[in-house]
Amino acid sequence: MTASAPPAPAGPPAFDTLSALLHTRHSCRAFLPEPLPRATIEQVLATAQRTASWCNAQPWQLTIASGATLARLRAALAAAVPATPPAPDLPWPREYRGMYQDRRRECGFGLYDAVGIARGDRAASAQQVALNFTMFGAPHVAIVSSDEALGVYGAVDCGAYVGNFMLAAHSLGIGSIAQAALAAYPAVLRDVLGIGTDRSIVCAISFGRADPQHPANRFRTTRADVAQAVQWRD
Ligand SMILES: Cc1cc2nc3c(=O)[nH]c(=O)nc-3n(C[C@H](O)[C@H](O)[C@H](O)COP(=O)(O)O)c2cc1C
Repeated sequence: MTASAPPAPAGPPAFDTLSALLHTRHSCRAFLPEPLPRATIEQVLATAQRTASWCNAQPWQLTIASGATLARLRAALAAAVPATPPAPDLPWPREYRGMYQDRRRECGFGLYDAVGIARGDRAASAQQVALNFTMFGAPHVAIVSSDEALGVYGAVDCGAYVGNFMLAAHSLGIGSIAQAALAAYPAVLRDVLGIGTDRSIVCAISFGRADPQHPANRFRTTRADVAQAVQWRD
């Protein structure tokens, strides 16, 4: 694994800007409660809307909850999650194996170390997982859904959109985190937010200003060397 550190300038300004954004973005797991100006959110949305998609179908739709609606969603999740088995619209990974399991563990332990959860402390780690359903205190959450008929490639397009949304947000100093955890409870999301069954819920993005003091925001993940991801066939 290699640590992610902001790179030295290495190319034209556009490359350096994008590279710096990619190297400094991180998932935010503690937010300040103040809502963002609508115009700022719209800037992020207009930029992410440029995402490429198969046949330019642009299958993503966002249902953005803030204020009283977000409070209702938090309350509904708090009531449902402990009593309801996960039932995501899209199948979850069957297994994390080999290096994927190793990376998953490293990422989990990094977070737990940052927030002071000891290895094996199941109660504390369950509490950390439960913070997903508070949206980590974010003032906004976007539920990202795809047209159900587009299947797996609709979800691929939404994934690209999510990445671009998070980068655009970061470029404006806005923290964000993609959350598959919320997609495990589509019935709750549909009920509170009025999302139809013709939409597959892909994931959520919680966003707002990061709490700079919170230890969860001091933890950074690494990335594997490019050589582990690429095979050249000359
Ligand atoms: C599609 C997707 C779903 C994710 N779901 C969750 C989640 O439910 N809860 C969580 O804490 N982090 C979630 N994450 C954040 C990842 O753990 C994080 O992106 C990864 O560890 C890399 O760290 P970084 O985002 O700080 O670079 C998700 C990320 C993606 C892209």
